[in-house]
Amino acid sequence: MKTEIIKLLKHTDNYVSGQEICEQFGVSRTAVWKVMNQLKEEGYEIESVPKKGYRLLNEPDVLSKSELLSRVTTEWAGRTVYYFDETGSTNNDVRRLMSEGAPHGTLAVADKQTAGKGRRGRTWISPAGANIFMSLGLRPEISPDKASMLTLVMALAVCDAIRETTRTDAKIKWPNDIVVNGKKVCGMLTELEAELDCIHSVVVGIGINVNQTEFASEISQTATSLLIESGNKVLRALLVERVLHYFEKYYAEFMAGEDLSALREAYNERLVNLDKDVRVLDPKGEYDGIARGIDEQGQLLVEKDGETVKVYAGEVSVRGVYGYV
Ligand code: BTN
Repeated sequence: MKTEIIKLLKHTDNYVSGQEICEQFGVSRTAVWKVMNQLKEEGYEIESVPKKGYRLLNEPDVLSKSELLSRVTTEWAGRTVYYFDETGSTNNDVRRLMSEGAPHGTLAVADKQTAGKGRRGRTWISPAGANIFMSLGLRPEISPDKASMLTLVMALAVCDAIRETTRTDAKIKWPNDIVVNGKKVCGMLTELEAELDCIHSVVVGIGINVNQTEFASEISQTATSLLIESGNKVLRALLVERVLHYFEKYYAEFMAGEDLSALREAYNERLVNLDKDVRVLDPKGEYDGIARGIDEQGQLLVEKDGETVKVYAGEVSVRGVYGYV
């Protein structure tokens, strides 16, 4: 009922009468009053006027299960939602949920993580109140060697969601960082539960620096937030919903061909490295080249001494010759 009341308040410009809510949901006035008080405690500014009813005065940056569900418009992505004020890692939560049989599209969102995981065994600093930490559990019927492409599908979705909600020129740094004005605003970590020939689940974890205002000096040269770059606060639940919306769309296109051929052009258009000098940090030896976009498998094509080398994300990372991008 809470989700439905949030929807009703958001979609009504004028007052929603207590009577109307009681009749619609078959509940007592006291029950409605209790929900309104809970919502006020969560941060919603709700005006209540005798004989008129309730009116939402502003949309706060609330992350909660009801707020997320009140926004979701997708068919399957994020239809099953878990929300945590605090958790270790949403990737671990969704991995556990998927192993217990949770459905395709299960989403976990947290306000704070105490053991956030980054790529290559790094930690992902996850303070409360400002950012998005979310993980989506998938059960794609594809062979395990194709699973890594899902991170690129998600990169495309997050890039579009950020562009739409912030009007910034967000770009993708291959394979799956999102950058705004040359600094990282989002990272992704994909984890796979599989046998040699069969995927049990894929968990795509996304960390977005949304309303954070300061970064530690060690990372402030390369990391930023959407608030810092756009000058505007972003409603986190809105951004989560937009990510799910675009992901569902791009996922269908990916699954139709089980590769990135349908998405390659869109991905390369958003690629910050396109036609730029890059340094390939290959453990077998670093080299410089010019990035020419991805192929249909998501490998980066790098022109080096007149030849084209295919760079596979699992082994190496790429950065600009003069810095992060
Ligand atoms: C990176 O190193 O760039 C990847 C960072 C991924 C962080 C996200 S936050 C939500 C999810 N839970 C985690 O523990 N990690 C991912």
